[in-house]
Parts: sequence; C-alpha cells; structure tokens
Amino acid sequence: MGALAWFLVDIRALDDTALADDVVMRDFYDVNRRAQLHGRLHAPFWEFGEFLGAFRSTDSGERQELFAAYDGDRMVGNAVLWSFLLDNTDKAWFHLSVDVPERRRGIGRALAQRLEQTAKDDDRSLILADAILPFDDRECHAHQRFAAACGYELSNYEVVRHLPLPVPDEQIQEWIDEAAPRHAGFTVQTFVGAVPDDLVESLCVLLGQLAVDAPTGAVDFDEEAVTPQRYAEMVATTAAMGRARYETVALTPDRQVVAQSTLAMSLEQSTKVYQWGTFVHREHRGHKLGLATKAVNLRAVQTMRGDLTLVITQNAETNNYMVSINERMGFRPIEVAAEFVKRL
Ligand SMILES: CC(C)(COP(=O)(O)OP(=O)(O)OC[C@H]1O[C@@H](n2cnc3c(N)ncnc32)[C@H](O)[C@@H]1OP(=O)(O)O)[C@@H](O)C(=O)NCCC(=O)NCCS
Repeated sequence: MGALAWFLVDIRALDDTALADDVVMRDFYDVNRRAQLHGRLHAPFWEFGEFLGAFRSTDSGERQELFAAYDGDRMVGNAVLWSFLLDNTDKAWFHLSVDVPERRRGIGRALAQRLEQTAKDDDRSLILADAILPFDDRECHAHQRFAAACGYELSNYEVVRHLPLPVPDEQIQEWIDEAAPRHAGFTVQTFVGAVPDDLVESLCVLLGQLAVDAPTGAVDFDEEAVTPQRYAEMVATTAAMGRARYETVALTPDRQVVAQSTLAMSLEQSTKVYQWGTFVHREHRGHKLGLATKAVNLRAVQTMRGDLTLVITQNAETNNYMVSINERMGFRPIEVAAEFVKRL
C-alpha cells in the first residue's frame, strides 16, 4: 500500500508564485492546521494571517523552501525546509505535515526523503525535525515511530508550558521587588517593536548566543549570526504577522544589553501570547535578570491588553534555570516537543 501510494502522490516544490497565491497558501495552512491539531484540538494555533505574514517575510539568515504533496489537485501533505545561510551551514531543519485521513500511505516518508535529498544536494550533513507528543505516550507515539522509521534519532525533549492570564499585578510586583536588589546598577526597559538603534548591536550579540548556551540535546549549534539587518527583518516579520513584539532588556550603565526577553502577541482576535527567547549574557548571570526581564515584560503586555488569556513557552527539559523561573511564575507543563536528527 505504502509503495503504491508513493507513486500516486506528486511532490512539488512551491515557487514564489505559489507563495503569493492565497488559495494555495490556504490549502497549505489548512493541511498544516488539521495535522498539527489532530488529537490536541484545543492547542493554540496561529491564525491564517499570522501564518501568511511569517511565510511571506524575509530572513536573510535562512533559506525557506516549501513543498507540497498532491493527490491529483488535492494537497495531502506539505513540508517546509529551512537552511541556515550565515552560520550552522551544516544543518537544515523542517516541519512536515500529512493530512489526517491521508496517513500511513507513505506520504510522510516520501516528503522526508525529498527534503533529505534537497539538503544533501546543498551539502548539509545534519537534518533536524520536531514533533509534538503527549507526556503519557512520548516514547511510543505515532510521530516518534514515524521519525524512527525514517532513520531519525531523538536529539532533545523540550517541554511546552502555559501560563494562564491575567497574573495579578501584585504578584508581578513581588517578582520585580525580589529581583531588584540583585541587579542594582542595571536598568530594565521595555520596547514595543524595534529597540533604539544604539542598542541593536549588543542585542544582536545576545540573540546570537541563545542557541549556543541553551541546552539543545545531541546537536550543538554554533553562534548564530544575528546581523542588524536580520534583526530589522525579525521586527518586520512580527509586524507582518499582525503581532506586537515586546522586548524587555537589561542595560549596563553604558547601555550595553546584557539580558533580554521577548513576547509576541496578536493585535487582532487571538488572546494568546508567545514567549520567544529569554537570555542573560554569560558574564551577567546570577543577578535575577531572567526573572526581572520576564516579569517586567509580562506586566507590559497585560497593561496593553486586559483580555489576554495565555502565555505559551517551550524549553529544553534539562534547562533547569529557565524552567525554575517559569515554574515560579506559574507556567504548567502541557506537552512535549521532541527534536529529531538524522546524519545525512
Ligand atoms: C508524522 C506524520 C508526518 C507521518 O505521516 P504519514 O504519511 O502517515 O507517514 P508514512 O505513511 O510515510 O509512514 C512511514 C512509516 O512511519 C511509521 N509510522 C507512521 N505513522 C505511524 C503510526 N501511527 N504508528 C506506527 N508507526 C507509524 C511506520 O513505520 C510507517 O511505515 P509503514 O506504514 O510502512 O509501517 C504525520 O502523522 C503528521 O503529519 N503528524 C503531525 C505533524 C508532525 O508531527 N510532523 C513531524 C514528524 S517528525
């Protein structure tokens, strides 16, 4: 059955014309949505506008390639391959979705093979993928078995946590007061959208080190080249997604950014807030700047919108310091994000 289906399904690389076509992209989003929400109906998922904004934006540090599997003119699966261009050029990573009624036809395997070939042709030696798993079935879940069947090894487990909002302002104040005596001399400031120009360089250095210092399992990442151009692109992407980007930073007296925490939230219907990175520079850890930047940022988004319901975050299971701050703030574990790797 698997082999037969393989021949019936046509895998196409989607070009810029397809990317600009709302009908094709709606199919892409819908397949993705059904695939990702299967068995987890109430999980937060981005809106179509957020998805379009992200996929149609540029990141000069990564190449994005879209693929779709068609049965006749029906999209039955799809995938995105991202290849780092300025650093970590041995690696590429992907998301893969097969529509729920189309599973076990060999479509997932065929898509994975196409991505691997594309990455190999581009001299990549490591290919990475991720999948969401329920806690109670993380070792034997279908996605885990699919990854194994395609020759992938588990690289890392991350835990997805949610924090219900609103958090009472007195509680936030308590965290801010607790941290304050430990970081006297640093200023904590929040910016919506881009930070002022004089902070961009030191913020970029910090953002580039996140993947080096955060635990990433069996795969080591080199420092990421976050250039001022890429930073401007990230800010523009967030705006194109219809989201506000809240950046809270800690500054030395000479205005070097030594810690940061980013939250992004929709300016439209969604009431969910996405926690992106939080990072404290190696030389400035132990001053409770992680808790301070997160608490101040949370207060800022709650002040902006009183109807927010949830913050979503994800960290390596072994990232004790970050996890302890999150648990302290009331984040609760929801599910597991497994990361897989294959050496090509
Ligand atoms: C994971 C996913 C892509 C699999 O797609 P698929 O088209 O059903 O996969 P295939 O039919 O190519 O399966 C290939 C092999 O994986 C294994 N496999 C896939 N689904 C399985 C399941 N439910 N139970 C056990 N093994 C499974 C089998 O060994 C299968 O080969 P076989 O059918 O010859 O036994 C699909 O379930 C999906 O879209 N999930 C949500 C998104 C996701 O998590 N993607 C990332 C995966 S790393």
